[in-house]
Amino acid sequence: MDSPARTSNRRAFLGSAGLMALAGLGLIPNTSAAKSAVKKGVDRRSNKRTAEVSPAAIQRLRLPKSGELVPVIGLGTSRTFDVDPSAENTALVEVMQRFFAWGGSLIDSSPMYKRSEEVVGTLCKKVGRDDLFFATKVWTPEGKQAGIKQMERSQELMGAARFDLLQVHNLVDLKVQLQTLTEWKQQGRLRYVGVTEMKDFATVEELVTSDQLDFIQIPYSVNDRRVEERLLQACIDHGVAVLVMRPYERGRLFGAVKGKDLPEWAADFGATSWGQLFLKFILGHPAATLPIPATSKAHHLDDNMAAGLGAPLDEASRRKLIKILQG
Ligand SMILES: NC(=O)c1ccc[n+]([C@@H]2O[C@H](COP(=O)([O-])OP(=O)(O)OC[C@H]3O[C@@H](n4cnc5c(N)ncnc54)[C@H](OP(=O)(O)O)[C@@H]3O)[C@@H](O)[C@H]2O)c1
Repeated sequence: MDSPARTSNRRAFLGSAGLMALAGLGLIPNTSAAKSAVKKGVDRRSNKRTAEVSPAAIQRLRLPKSGELVPVIGLGTSRTFDVDPSAENTALVEVMQRFFAWGGSLIDSSPMYKRSEEVVGTLCKKVGRDDLFFATKVWTPEGKQAGIKQMERSQELMGAARFDLLQVHNLVDLKVQLQTLTEWKQQGRLRYVGVTEMKDFATVEELVTSDQLDFIQIPYSVNDRRVEERLLQACIDHGVAVLVMRPYERGRLFGAVKGKDLPEWAADFGATSWGQLFLKFILGHPAATLPIPATSKAHHLDDNMAAGLGAPLDEASRRKLIKILQG
């Protein structure tokens, strides 16, 4: 885990107790984030201790290829944003307001997620922001023109002046669509090129090692570590950033720890919930990993963004968390 390549990419985080910069490059601590944003409270209904969080700018990761700084926690939109765009959507408006309040910017969508791209666009208008890091995908087997038409439509729906990241969704029509993305990047119509995939990691590795990508998007969590051995190492070696889909395995991870108390050592990393531990597990990997949890609820958004404060899990604690999940 501590090969020179990995160590050279290790982030520098602030510890929750104060200015404890960890060794390495990549992550820029935010001084306002050095103050803990977490207050302990008591849930009146369950009488359990809870953590209240209030927004403080989360830490940012330096993208390996460009050096651009991106907030370490993004926002997914699969299912949660597939709602009627013309409705009030009060809960989602609050999710977006809180996301921006925490200093968030990277939102990931796809034409596959039905109304989600349009909902991103309408919510941005409602909260008066258009300065997102817009990430979406091209997802069609019907060739070059169909891909272009789809991407132009996505741009309109999301209200993006220009795309930041476009990804070939699940490697569909890979060769054709990737060529268009590369051309669009050369023309300045998008800034970063990526692919997403959930199973065929060998193909993704080939693309990474042949330096065709700026980003990949793959599943990675404490319980799903298929990409850990080879693919994430290849990303470190080739300077590719990693969007982490399904960081909670669509919520299943919470079921796996139901009724369990947080380990005492969670406090060493400023983590006050299982969700924060799960995200800090991902952030603790030395590749440039950016989890994109999806939520429809503002209090979950707060929980998720708070994982971007304080230190990520170190390797020993990552192993301890795996053991807890293994029962
Ligand atoms: N092939 C692909 O390209 C691909 C595939 C899958 C996913 N993705 C991307 O990755 C994103 C994330 O994956 P995902 O949405 O499948 O799953 P996920 O983020 O692992 O889990 C989302 C679920 O977790 C719950 N949740 C979120 N925060 C929580 C918290 N703090 N405490 C308790 N529950 C919480 C949400 O429910 P609430 O609404 O109740 O909070 C939701 O049901 C997607 O939205 C999408 O953008 C891409």
